[in-house]
Amino acid sequence: MTESDPAIIRLGVVGAGFMGRQHIDFIRAAPGMALTAVADPVLPPDAFGCAVHESTERMLDAGQVDAVIIANPNALHVDTALECLEAGVAVLLEKPVAVDHAQSLRLVEAVERRRGRLLVGHHRRHHPAVARARAAIRDGELGQVVAVSGLWSARKEDAYFTDMPWHSRPGAGVLLINVVHDLDLLRHLCGEVVEIQAMQSSHARGLEVEDTVSLSLRFENGVVGSFLASDAGVSPWGWDQATEETAAFPFLPDGVAYRIVGTRAALSVPNLARYAYDASVEPDWHSPLSRTYLPVVPRGSFQRQLEHFADVVRGEAEPLVSAEDASRTLALVEAAALAARTRRTVDVARFRTDVEAGRE
Ligand SMILES: NC(=O)c1ccc[n+]([C@@H]2O[C@H](COP(=O)([O-])OP(=O)(O)OC[C@H]3O[C@@H](n4cnc5c(N)ncnc54)[C@H](O)[C@@H]3O)[C@@H](O)[C@H]2O)c1
Repeated sequence: MTESDPAIIRLGVVGAGFMGRQHIDFIRAAPGMALTAVADPVLPPDAFGCAVHESTERMLDAGQVDAVIIANPNALHVDTALECLEAGVAVLLEKPVAVDHAQSLRLVEAVERRRGRLLVGHHRRHHPAVARARAAIRDGELGQVVAVSGLWSARKEDAYFTDMPWHSRPGAGVLLINVVHDLDLLRHLCGEVVEIQAMQSSHARGLEVEDTVSLSLRFENGVVGSFLASDAGVSPWGWDQATEETAAFPFLPDGVAYRIVGTRAALSVPNLARYAYDASVEPDWHSPLSRTYLPVVPRGSFQRQLEHFADVVRGEAEPLVSAEDASRTLALVEAAALAARTRRTVDVARFRTDVEAGRE
């Protein structure tokens, strides 16, 4: 098969930095896909063995792509995605969908108006352990879920902020860069969040953006939860250390990012350890506690995301993470930032309504 074969999806990548290069590797390993173009203003023209353009516009004008993966800085996401949708090209847009909820609404509107094919890159939703955990919750394997807690902490290198200054300015920060994934997954697993409280700190790095946050969440089904995150502190806890998603991060087997507590059992994710009292009659906190691991077939979420994107490109699947869905996750991140700034509880639905009405 060659890229002139109509069965092959011709893919372009916009932004070939840390994340874009990983997407390029996944495309190269994927059957039925070919990397035909890259758009990035700061690359040598022969960097990837395919056409390299200095802008998305030039790449689209060259007509070499059926679909595009957008991995440029967050502030460019909406305009780049709109450009691609206007050109009739399918889009996998890296998270966050936009830098704020108001901006994301432009994209939601354009996707609806153009019936555009757009998947947002909340890749963790594609991980087999997430699908298994979601099924366990849905099928009552934990009883009634009462609470959830999560943690993500890792010490990013200082060059992450000095070499790529957009990382230290509004539009980035640990909430928008990292916690956005976790809040998306907590929504996916536990349902919509109705109230949020937050504290944040820039104490460790002294940057304009926050490096550390603590969140309290109330879900619409009555579940309450908490989430802690820092990009300044060493830890083995968090999705990136608990999965083998990228070689760029250390992997510790049996790692935990989330703990979900139900009336019959508890489940940690992504290691899928299920804890339950081991008594046939009236089990309670005096009963022995047993641990079993839920079985799952291992597969990387970026690969599964790319396979799913191929189905979206061909019009054979609705996106697992639509612009509208990702826009709700982003609204939650923004509500967290507002809660931290104002030191008050934010009603998430009211916050979204206020943004939509131009009041926030
Ligand atoms: N899904 C994930 O786990 C994950 C992980 C890291 C980053 N990301 C996301 O990927 C995106 C990129 O992050 P990164 O860490 O790779 O950043 P980066 O700074 O390493 O890369 C950004 C790239 O975009 C290029 N660029 C800048 N302006 C451009 C333009 N106008 N057109 C095309 N390219 C342009 C830059 O030259 C650079 O190569 C961000 O949205 C980030 O949130 C996602």
